[in-house]
Amino acid sequence: MAASSEVAAVGPESQDVELRIYSYYRDAELRGSNLIYRLLRILKDDESQLLLSEHLADETRHAWLWTERIKELGRAPLEVTDGYQVRLGKRAGLPRHPVDLLALTVVVEQRALKRYQEHLKRRGVPERTLEVLRSVTKDEGWHIDWIRQKARQIAEAEGKPERFDESLARFRGIDREVWAELEDVEKSWMEAL
Ligand SMILES: [Fe+2]
Ligand SMILES: [Fe+2]
Repeated sequence: MAASSEVAAVGPESQDVELRIYSYYRDAELRGSNLIYRLLRILKDDESQLLLSEHLADETRHAWLWTERIKELGRAPLEVTDGYQVRLGKRAGLPRHPVDLLALTVVVEQRALKRYQEHLKRRGVPERTLEVLRSVTKDEGWHIDWIRQKARQIAEAEGKPERFDESLARFRGIDREVWAELEDVEKSWMEAL
């Protein structure tokens, strides 16, 4: 009996859930890459160009790592049209001012980090998924630090040092609303694994 329940735990249903979760993570990474690409077009100073190029390479690598995980399941990524970033974008719009765009990036990165940290704490996560989670999590520290510093630097140079914190507070409020919608859904998927 124990054997049959073990089989059920790795059966097609559980694989569908894995596919869905990895597809959502992949979608968030790709949309995150899009934000970094936008910044690359806006922030022309040497430091930003160097750091954004590395940052963009990291984010697209993260999207690839989730895609690779999906390939290992013998599947293809699901199209995600109602994920975290789409919901956030609908409420927040796409900011034009660099300080606001940087603030949005910080909020998005922090959410990704929290999501991955929660996943890492779960029991029974496949070893390969743990590897990917550890790898993507490792990069988020420097991403958040440098983006935050750059935003403060620009806001101060423009004589509006408070702009970054105000923008951050606004996007954090929207992030909490969006997360309130998604958290239970994501938890129920995790329970089904
Ligand atoms: Fe990432
Ligand atoms: Fe990141």
